[in-house]
Amino acid sequence: MISGGYLKLPLTVMPFMAAVNILVGINLWAFSEKSDLGKSATAIAASGTNPHYTGRYCSHCHEAAPHKGMDNNLKYSGNYKRLCRCHIGVSGNYIHPVGMAPSEDKTARIPQDFPLQNGRLACITCHDIARQCRKRLMDKVSLRGAPYPRRSDFCFKCHNRQNYMMLNAHDQLDTTGRIIAATCRYCHTEKPDPRTSTYDVLNFVEGFETMCQKCHIIRGNHSGNFNHMVKPSIKGLSKIKMMAEKFGIILPLDGDGRMTCITCHNPHAKGVIPENRAAARGAGSNLRHRLPGKMCVECHQM
Ligand code: HEC
Ligand code: HEC
Ligand code: HEC
Ligand code: HEC
Ligand code: HEC
Ligand code: HEC
Ligand code: HEC
Repeated sequence: MISGGYLKLPLTVMPFMAAVNILVGINLWAFSEKSDLGKSATAIAASGTNPHYTGRYCSHCHEAAPHKGMDNNLKYSGNYKRLCRCHIGVSGNYIHPVGMAPSEDKTARIPQDFPLQNGRLACITCHDIARQCRKRLMDKVSLRGAPYPRRSDFCFKCHNRQNYMMLNAHDQLDTTGRIIAATCRYCHTEKPDPRTSTYDVLNFVEGFETMCQKCHIIRGNHSGNFNHMVKPSIKGLSKIKMMAEKFGIILPLDGDGRMTCITCHNPHAKGVIPENRAAARGAGSNLRHRLPGKMCVECHQM
């Protein structure tokens, strides 16, 4: 059946092919002589031609026309190391380890429609490669179940989200409402006394921004960018003081008198600092904001 790297189908097969074509919605005619433009599989690979999503080059990967639900007639008995050789060992292409039998934990989690190959993780486990057999220029990476809202959502199809949760420095109380002293030490050198300690006498493990940025990456148009991490003007400072008094809150600046993350955000869990203290305000609020309501307007209608 194979000659010169492409398939020559006897004319008698053609009506059958047309039927299959309709059934699976795939252009099996591409198996005809013109599909590979006479090039051998090796020549295609060497030329850098992309065989995916073209509706051509079928014989690059298939020995013969595959049929849905039957043998896919893959070359090299479907061995991905050879089928996907253009991508293997290419630097910058590595996304995930393959070839291993999944652990018990993963075996239980891997969804039914993520097929293993001989019991092992393979390229087709994550890539619905059959999609690229159709001539459709979309979703080039053909991830199973795509699109996903966040890239990591795909990973959690098999990995346990719980194992990758970020430590939460604001989870400072146990289920009975008692302080977990260890969490204070994410930021304080020792556990402060919630009733009496004040900001000016406390010691911190690091500068405020560094402390927060261990876990939070602030990007884009966030208020914590360049506009605000500055020393307020005299006018700005008096406004900050007015706001603190008006709302009975604190809007602390850093040691150099600059605004910083904790000027706007309260890092404590609600219940750690007694409610009668100004420093307690904002702990339970949306986004931990110390200022209630439209905070931008509060500070800026000067
Ligand atoms: C880059 C390699 C490659 C090329 C090129 C390719 N295929 Fe495939 N094809 C595969 C692989 C791998 C599978 C098996 C996927 C699986 O098992 O999940 C497959 C599966 C199929 C299936 C079975 C689909 C199903 O849903 O079960 C059909 C039909 C098919 N291919 C037709 C074609 C046709 C027609 C062409 C040419 C237009 C083509 N393929 C080109 C690699 C390729
Ligand atoms: C555990 C799942 C998983 C396995 C197994 C896997 N991949 Fe991927 N692959 C991904 C993800 C996730 C992406 C990135 C998709 C994105 O960027 O949106 C990707 C992207 C790619 C890309 C595009 C890379 C780029 O730079 O754009 C190629 C090519 C690729 N994979 C080939 C392979 C090959 C070949 C194998 C088998 C050796 C394989 N993958 C195995 C998950 C997997
Ligand atoms: C189809 C299921 C599947 C998907 C989807 C998947 N993985 Fe995996 N991953 C595995 C298996 C299986 C192992 C091997 C270890 C095991 O069996 O527990 C593994 C191992 C790993 C490892 C090696 C360290 C470890 O945890 O064992 C890393 C890192 C990893 N995966 C990251 C990712 C990332 C990042 C994504 C998303 C882009 C992803 N995985 C998506 C199945 C998957
Ligand atoms: C994520 C970092 C972080 C964690 C975790 C943290 N704090 Fe703080 N704490 C700060 C910062 C920054 C200040 C200074 C600004 C302020 O007063 O709110 C502060 C100030 C304080 C103050 C002084 C409040 C005032 O009147 O100015 C007390 C009391 C306090 N923390 C108690 C605690 C206790 C108790 C814990 C553990 C349950 C804790 N903190 C956990 C960052 C943290
Ligand atoms: C050890 C990691 C860690 C540190 C350190 C940390 N945080 Fe957080 N922070 C978290 C986690 C986890 C959440 C909860 C995120 C979520 O629920 O999506 C969170 C939530 C927040 C939120 C609310 C975000 C939202 O979407 O609700 C703000 C604001 C915040 N932190 C500010 C700070 C500030 C300011 C500091 C420094 C004083 C700080 N954090 C230090 C881990 C940390
Ligand atoms: C705690 C008070 C406070 C809050 C809340 C606040 N700002 Fe500011 N903002 C300042 C101070 C102080 C400056 C530095 C300039 C100054 O000292 O007048 C500044 C600077 C700016 C600047 C740079 C231009 C300038 O006037 O120097 C912009 C833009 C800005 N703020 C917008 C906002 C927005 C938008 C919000 C709401 C997300 C916001 N601010 C919330 C106090 C605040
Ligand atoms: C001038 C006040 C102000 C300062 C200073 C500030 N923030 Fe915010 N922060 C906000 C406001 C307002 C929002 C909600 C809207 C937005 O993204 O601007 C927010 C949202 C957040 C969120 C939740 C949303 C997100 O983007 O993840 C986190 C976490 C956060 N801030 C952390 C920080 C950290 C860490 C710093 C210091 C590097 C910081 N903030 C400095 C006002 C501030």
